[in-house]
Amino acid sequence: MSTSLFGTVQPYAGDPILSLNDAFGQDPRTNKINLSIGVYTDDLGRLPVLDSVMAAQTKLGFGARPYLPMDGHGAYRAAVQRLVFGDDHEAVQSGRIATIQTIGGTGAVGIAADFLAVHTPGRVVAVSDPTWENHHGLFQRAGFATQTFPWWDSVRGEASTDKAVDAIAALPQGSIVILQPVCHNPTGTDFTRQQQDAVTQLCLDRRHVVVFDMAYQGFGDGVDLDASWVRRCASAGMTFFVANSFSKNFSLYGERCGGLSVVTPSAVEASLVLGQLKLAIRRSYSNGPTTGPQIVAEVLNDPQLHQMWEDEVASMRNRMIRMRAHLANAINAHEPSVPTAFLIEQRGMFSYTGLSADAVISMRNNDAVYLIETGRVCVAGLTEGNVDAVAASLAGALKLKQQNG
Ligand code: LMR
Repeated sequence: MSTSLFGTVQPYAGDPILSLNDAFGQDPRTNKINLSIGVYTDDLGRLPVLDSVMAAQTKLGFGARPYLPMDGHGAYRAAVQRLVFGDDHEAVQSGRIATIQTIGGTGAVGIAADFLAVHTPGRVVAVSDPTWENHHGLFQRAGFATQTFPWWDSVRGEASTDKAVDAIAALPQGSIVILQPVCHNPTGTDFTRQQQDAVTQLCLDRRHVVVFDMAYQGFGDGVDLDASWVRRCASAGMTFFVANSFSKNFSLYGERCGGLSVVTPSAVEASLVLGQLKLAIRRSYSNGPTTGPQIVAEVLNDPQLHQMWEDEVASMRNRMIRMRAHLANAINAHEPSVPTAFLIEQRGMFSYTGLSADAVISMRNNDAVYLIETGRVCVAGLTEGNVDAVAASLAGALKLKQQNG
């Protein structure tokens, strides 16, 4: 036995996304291409600084940085609510939503898990299979055991969202269900409108507690359309959680701007919930940072900047759609028989190739093309300059997969 205090500390195996991104940074090959982490780059492969963000930053200058309240920057919290639920939503107007500023989307999901661990301990927590790996981790850290419902049929190589609806219906009453309303990470495949409505109704009937993780608002069909399921749940009288993030749609990754909203039946309950969320923050890190939320609030609360931002989100969305088509065509130019329709049909930053970890590792080793080992490709990292190299590498891997059945 080691005599040192930390001699028995287990080595960290690393994170499947963040550690791979670090490994990419250290890869000395000059032809390397990063399609691993969910980061949007422009067509020159640069992290964009949005014009709306620049304009807000110029307006704000570098002012004083006081402690924020525990629940965050007031104008930011109000802007989060209006963006997620819509300006005129009855739930917003009646004050029955408790919204806090969080440390990115991760912080939002983490605070939701911590809050639920206190107020609804011991419940089943169900996430899609596959999902963003940290959903498991954040709820396990809070003390829950997680289980999955099927989202992807790896034999058929397509989403199995109909099976997800049945599995959610079969969960024990009062289960906590983590759902992504738009641009599902990692599959890029969402519920249809009909399936959404069925899930809303069965969650109401079974008194399931839904935690929506909405990290890609605006990357699917548009800022309002992407939030429409969440808004309908609020109209239907559901009590639920929404984690949202401005990392991707504001290109403010390092500022860690997120929000957590809890929709409750009444303004009285919302204020009680807000109090407990504040306590959770106080016990964890006291209060959030000032700069990012000030910028986001400035953009969202100024009609002109807001419109400029929505246009910028639309151009990011459209670029991803163009790159999906370009990649599919380029793959088929190499291998005409390889199926590529999934690239066009899936939405948002990610596509799910169905490639094995071994295939992904050989793409990385042989071609310096980085995907997540689950076979997820970040199409938001494709550019006119790298798409042909990616297509050549993917065409080979997909062909091998096709041959091996
Ligand atoms: C991703 O899925 O790549 C992003 O959401 C980054 C992260 O924190 O995992």
